[in-house]
Amino acid sequence: MKLWGGRFTKETNQLVHNFNASLSFDQKFYQQDIKGSIAHVTMLAKQGILTDEEKNTIVTTLEQIADDISSGLLTFDESQEDIHSFVEANLIDRIGDTGKKLHTGRSRNDQVALDMRLYTRDEIDELDRLLLTLLQTLYDIMEANLATYMPGFTHLQKAQPVTLAHHLGAYFEMFLRDRERLQDIRKRMNLCPLGAGALAGTTYPLDRAYTASLLGFDGPTRNSMDSVSDRDYLLETLSALSICMMHLSRFCEEIILWNSNEYRFVEIDDGYSTGSSIMPQKKNPDIAELIRGKTGRVYGALTSLLTTMKGIPLAYNKDMQEDKEFTFDAMDTVKGCLVLFTGMLATMKFNNDVMEASAKNGFTNATDAADYLVNHGVPFRDAHGIIGQLVLLCIEKNCSLDDLPLSDYKKIFPAFEEDIFDAIRMETCVEKRNTLGAPGQKAMNEVLAFYWDYIKNA
Ligand code: ARG
Repeated sequence: MKLWGGRFTKETNQLVHNFNASLSFDQKFYQQDIKGSIAHVTMLAKQGILTDEEKNTIVTTLEQIADDISSGLLTFDESQEDIHSFVEANLIDRIGDTGKKLHTGRSRNDQVALDMRLYTRDEIDELDRLLLTLLQTLYDIMEANLATYMPGFTHLQKAQPVTLAHHLGAYFEMFLRDRERLQDIRKRMNLCPLGAGALAGTTYPLDRAYTASLLGFDGPTRNSMDSVSDRDYLLETLSALSICMMHLSRFCEEIILWNSNEYRFVEIDDGYSTGSSIMPQKKNPDIAELIRGKTGRVYGALTSLLTTMKGIPLAYNKDMQEDKEFTFDAMDTVKGCLVLFTGMLATMKFNNDVMEASAKNGFTNATDAADYLVNHGVPFRDAHGIIGQLVLLCIEKNCSLDDLPLSDYKKIFPAFEEDIFDAIRMETCVEKRNTLGAPGQKAMNEVLAFYWDYIKNA
């Protein structure tokens, strides 16, 4: 029998039931559903709408139902439409008429709005922890690599030397913002929709603020129609998760490049690599590729829900049931990716010597050579042209600026002296860059101290 069977004279067509049902996926938040019901009846009793005895019976039985589901004793019965009906029907089976009072002053519309919020809030907290672990892992690698030189790239062409710590610091910033975004969303969504009813509130003297406080919310929502039809917090979460995946994906792309035979900047640990069924020599970066690939499905979830929501009139419409599967999938995907990525990063070997050797060629010190001339009174634009000529000469001679004899420098511009070689040493190029945010050790130490504080106070 359906919860709503009263006004019907026929059984639901089986295909209609299957198409309409959400139990196969909304069972994921049975714990949140039961927690919400317990808060609801606790409030009903406080308001004198249920007796204490009725409340106690309902609460104890709901707790048993939760235990039985988690122990596997109680399995989901597909004849029920959704988790809300499943729990209520089970409660009525166990305690009869008292169970029928659970849904007083409540609709599945505010109930599902609550469950999804509670679930999302828990997931945000978990994602937040995983991001923090990633930040800690990044911090440890950065701290150990303040003087590990590597080429910085633009257009995937060697540009100027930086350090590994500085390069990884860029990702630290990205993941820090991802964490802040989730925390922002959590703050904004932390209002309780329960009590909104189907759309227009209820006639019972509910204490919405009390229910909200029982469930750890900052207060109740302010408009009952919005409460049952708002999915902004999911869109915001999916958007934050999409951005986080974009960051992971970019990092993975770099790791894939760095791990290639051509770069050899890093070696992914055997535990995080896979082989080829035919080519015995292969060690593939499948995990990094999969994370890059899974970014698409998280973007898909965001696009899907934006599209679902765009034409829905107020208030609740069944379209909104479509908010769940892709969102759950996106949350699970990001959590999985964060765990795997952090493990891969923590065990990855950085080939410092290869990175340093690479930073030394490719004329990454050409800007510094031009700066040398500027310090000798040459206007920057002219200096740029002079160094350009020197680079051409080096290409002809197949050498670096460091190896070009001073006589060649002087032939092109007489102001060069022996100290040019110190001015363009890779270490000098990095260490001279010490304005906040630059790779020099002084600047980096300041930033690392900030990161350390951030992690300690997280
Ligand atoms: N399974 C539904 C959903 O996820 C629960 C709310 C049902 N409400 C209703 N009026 N049919 O949206």
